[in-house]
Amino acid sequence: MHCDASCPIGIFDSGVGGLTVARAVMDRLPHERIVYFGDTARVPYGVKSPDTVARYAGEITKFLLDKNVKLLVVACNTMAAVALPAITALSPVPVIEVVTAGAKSALAVSKTRRIGIIATPSTIASRAYEKALALFGGPDVRVVAKACPLFVPLVEEGWLDHPATRLVAEEYLRPLLAEDLDTLILGCTHYPLLAPLLQSVAGPGVRLQDSATAMAERAAAVLAELGLAQGDGAPRHVFHVTDLPLRFREIGERFLGRPMEDVRLEKM
Ligand code: DGL
Repeated sequence: MHCDASCPIGIFDSGVGGLTVARAVMDRLPHERIVYFGDTARVPYGVKSPDTVARYAGEITKFLLDKNVKLLVVACNTMAAVALPAITALSPVPVIEVVTAGAKSALAVSKTRRIGIIATPSTIASRAYEKALALFGGPDVRVVAKACPLFVPLVEEGWLDHPATRLVAEEYLRPLLAEDLDTLILGCTHYPLLAPLLQSVAGPGVRLQDSATAMAERAAAVLAELGLAQGDGAPRHVFHVTDLPLRFREIGERFLGRPMEDVRLEKM
C-alpha cells in the first residue's frame, strides 16, 4: 500500500458522533478528503464489552485501509479507550485517537490540575483518560470521572438545550463540581453538542475541553510531519454507514454542521 498527499484521511466512530471530529478536521484541513465510517447499525458501543468493541474496531480499520487512507483518526472515545491495540496492530498508517488528544489538551489548559472527565460507561470503566492524564501529567493531577449514559440519546434526540437535559446534566455534574475542578473533558463524541448547556451548568470557573479541536490539530501536525498534507482543491467527502436509521441525515448534519452529500450504505 502506498499513500501520497492525495490519499484520504479515514475517520471512524460507532455512529454519527464522530462527525463532530470530522467537522473539526474539515474546518482545520479544508483541502483534505475524508472517508468517514459510522457503524450506525451497531451503535452504541459505549455500553458494550471491550472484546466486542475491539472486534468491530478491527473490521472498520480493515475497511478504511482498503480505501487507501493515509491517516486513521479514531474519533470514538470508546474505541480509543478499549480497542486501540486492535486498531494499531492492523494499521501500517499512523493512528491518532481522541483520548490522548483530549488528555493532553486538558493538561495544557488546566491551572489547578483538578480535571474532570465525562464519557460513556465503557470509556469510564477502562480508566483510559485517567491513565493518559497520569502518563502525560504526572502523579499530582487530581482526576474525577463520571459516566453519563443518558447524554448520547438526549443529543440524538436533538434536546441540546432542553429542561430535561439540563436536569440530567445537573445530576451528573454535581459530584464532579463538588471537587472544585477547573477543567472538564468532554470524553464522548456527542458531548460537544451539549457544550453551551454544560458550560452553563458547570459555571464560568470550569473550562470545557473537547477532543475534536485537539484531534484536528494533531491530524494537521502528523500530516505535516510526514509530508502528506494536501494543500489545495475542494475535496468530496464520503460517509459510509452500516444502517440508515430514521432521521439519520438530520442528526448527522447537525453533528457535521454541513450537508452530507455522499452517504453510502455498507454491509459488514
Ligand atoms: N462515539 C461514542 C464515544 O465517543 C459514543 C456513542 C456510543 O456509545 O457508541 O464514546
